[in-house]
Amino acid sequence: MKNIVVLVSGGGTNLQALIDAQNRGEISNGKITCVISSNPNAYALTRAANNGIETAVIRRGDFNEFSLYDEALTKLVQSKNADLVVLAGFMTILGKGFISAYENKIINIHPALIPSFCGEGYYGLRVHEEALKKGVKVTGATAHFVNEICDGGPIILQKAVEVKFGDTPEVLQKRVMEQAEWKILPRAVALFCDDKIKVNGNITEILD
Ligand code: GAR
Repeated sequence: MKNIVVLVSGGGTNLQALIDAQNRGEISNGKITCVISSNPNAYALTRAANNGIETAVIRRGDFNEFSLYDEALTKLVQSKNADLVVLAGFMTILGKGFISAYENKIINIHPALIPSFCGEGYYGLRVHEEALKKGVKVTGATAHFVNEICDGGPIILQKAVEVKFGDTPEVLQKRVMEQAEWKILPRAVALFCDDKIKVNGNITEILD
């Protein structure tokens, strides 16, 4: 059984999708043991508490230097014996120390089809605003491993979602979450826990 630590910053609908999948028995070889938030007021913390999951808060602003924050986050996650770290709407940049401690063991969900609408500055609603500005007809979500390149790690799963004429960023965000994020993130986590993701450089093979 793999210990899953989920990092959050906001509403936590992706965390909820993971909890629901776990409760349905779809993550048979993993268990969410701790939820860590960068924001003490994140509703994601309430979702975790409602499901009896341990929580912790670590704020970048409480550390003078980024390297001290990186070290503290790494130690905190290590103290929870994480086998897998999931970024479910985690809005704080990760440091080199943390990323190298968990190589190919950090899964992020990004609300677009990487390599479109990704990289520095592309997070949350901003991603959908840019997709609408560009006029793309298809967008989606990507579950990927995290490496030192922002949104550049090996892609695990992607799912396309239709963009409709007249969509607002909020409407598109909701459709992408419902049709893509809440499906592929739990699936990617289940595959990881079943040891069914083989990584070779930047390419993954799903052994399913
Ligand atoms: C989600 O749409 C997630 O893909 C996005 O933030 C939202 C968090 O929602 N993440 C990023 O943009 C990361 N670059 P949630 O708190 O309800 O899961």
